[in-house]
Amino acid sequence: MSTYVQTRYRSATCGELRKSDVGREVKLAGWVHSYRDHGNLVFIDLRDREGRTQLVFDIDLLGADVHETARALRGEWVIGIEGKVLARDEKLINPKIPTGEVEVRVTRLAVLSESPTPPFFPDDHESIGEERRLTYRYIDLRRSQMQETLRVRHRVTSIMRHYLGDLGFWEIETPMLTKSTPEGARDFIVPSRQQPGSFYALPQSPQLFKQLLMVGGCDKYMQIVRCFRDEDPRADRQAEFTQLDLEMAFIDREDIIKVIEGLLARIWKDVLGVDITLPIPHMPYAEAMNDYGSDRPDLRFGMKLVDITDLGKKTEFKVFTGADMVKAICVPGGAVLSRAQTDALATWSKDYGAKGLAVTKVIADPSSPGALKLDTGIAKFVEPIAKDLIARLDAKEGDLLCFAADKVKVVHKVLGELRQKMFRDLNMKPERTWAFVWVVDFPSFSYDEEDKRFVAEHHPFTSPKDEFLKDMDSTDRATIEKIQAKAYDICLNGYEIGGGSIRIHRMDIQQKLFKLLGIGEEDQQAKFGFLLDALKFGAPPHGGIALGLDRLIMLLRGIENIRDVIAFPKTQSGSDLMCGAPSPIELKQLRDTHIKLNLPEAKPAV
Ligand code: AMO
Ligand code: AMP
Repeated sequence: MSTYVQTRYRSATCGELRKSDVGREVKLAGWVHSYRDHGNLVFIDLRDREGRTQLVFDIDLLGADVHETARALRGEWVIGIEGKVLARDEKLINPKIPTGEVEVRVTRLAVLSESPTPPFFPDDHESIGEERRLTYRYIDLRRSQMQETLRVRHRVTSIMRHYLGDLGFWEIETPMLTKSTPEGARDFIVPSRQQPGSFYALPQSPQLFKQLLMVGGCDKYMQIVRCFRDEDPRADRQAEFTQLDLEMAFIDREDIIKVIEGLLARIWKDVLGVDITLPIPHMPYAEAMNDYGSDRPDLRFGMKLVDITDLGKKTEFKVFTGADMVKAICVPGGAVLSRAQTDALATWSKDYGAKGLAVTKVIADPSSPGALKLDTGIAKFVEPIAKDLIARLDAKEGDLLCFAADKVKVVHKVLGELRQKMFRDLNMKPERTWAFVWVVDFPSFSYDEEDKRFVAEHHPFTSPKDEFLKDMDSTDRATIEKIQAKAYDICLNGYEIGGGSIRIHRMDIQQKLFKLLGIGEEDQQAKFGFLLDALKFGAPPHGGIALGLDRLIMLLRGIENIRDVIAFPKTQSGSDLMCGAPSPIELKQLRDTHIKLNLPEAKPAV
């Protein structure tokens, strides 16, 4: 009896009986997973969270009445049984399940719950649309992959609590009904009944509270906390998600990094039995963007972006000669792609703002043994630079060269995405399974061309590096864009799994930063007066980080959809299909909260 205490219903789980248990009288309870009716003998696989055990109902032992009840059992009914553990005949052993060497010969049967034929059986989940699975999530949760994911999730959060607890972190809860904390997304808001016209915001993260805990002398804080961001969900993004949030006082970047590396190593070892290599390498943001076109570079494979702007100028190809930047990637073995497939890439690239995607293939040069040449696509336009391209991209026969020519941002975006797409589509073998990297030296600010103002790259509480503090008074855009932050992101296999920074702990610098972001003094007081006050009354140097728990679990379990690592997730349109949220509320609830609806007119049916 490993994980359960004995209860009225069971003395063992469905996953634990082995040959050494033969002869034991046991009580089991669970769901009817499958049944085979051979008349006098009925075989049932009984399933609970821990596994499956084969039950045998034998008419000679049970009598006709009970046996008829056994024959009437159907999939997903809940039953309890008592019986004796027997060894299976050699040829009936099922090596695929841990309990496959034994079966339980039933002596008593109780039907605890019946079920009509369910909308689907747990094992059928692959042929069932996600909508149906989410509508009946409690059935979907019964399948073993889902339960394994929740087990890993629980395991990971317990490791986090133990590991950080041992290091002296306190788990402290911060408010859910709070004031807007800008992490760059839209807030979910909650109307106040007591204060007409006022609203709480659900936290996008506990950022300000954890900083105030440091000012409050709490020294080391951690929390496994729900965060809310009203943005469109994606494969790795939910509006409601979970962070491991932490903060420490009197520390520097390296202290946070050490804590997180130790934690990740512990999790990978415990969950997967994998030793990750520490320390995790650091990569400056500029290098990540230049070489991988992304601030969360996937380092499991090469295919780096190579600058060929200078070579492009030596051609007559207008696409290249007229562009700010031309970069290329060399896709190993990519020449297998058909014309239709490479044309489709050009169309695909437009989703990322590109005007097109030029390609050409590397083939053996028939006129010169051992030499290579370019063929098809834009080969004729780049003829004068073919040799240089092949050399600079280190291209081999059978490779595909892909080019983007545009503004720097667009070139990086489209080639960064293309790298990932080619890796996936061509089923390339990764050079390593787990490629962790710390991305560091982020710019503090980026310029929002639309709003004509600077925005914080991380959040406005991140400290610029000391050597750049003097530049915060500058009015020169280029100078401000060069300011670097004491920020760090931890990335794994192309995902950002966490981000944090050393914070500003001096009021004057925080005010200066707000000013740089165009937040006037009045606005500063209204929005962040409590923070500025706190920084005035003795704030220790401090910093922290938050890891995305859902993303960590996705990676640990090799799952690509964030919904599959959350027990009750929301759909693309933000609905909980099972309980039907969001939903209209009663008039009285609206009145209580002083809300009058002003809904958009319903679109006429087409
Ligand atoms: P940040 O916004 O980078 O930082 O969030 C930290 C980590 O949380 C995860 N994450 C998400 N996961 C799922 N769905 C989402 N919508 C989502 N948004 C973020 C990511 C990300 O790396 N307060 C700062 C942390 C700090 O500075 O200490 C913060 O929230 O894995
Ligand atoms: P065009 O001269 O417009 O027919 O383009 C020739 C090839 O270059 C096509 O394969 C286009 O997809 C590609 N192309 C067009 N614009 C760009 C660009 N900005 N960057 C890279 N390739 C491009």
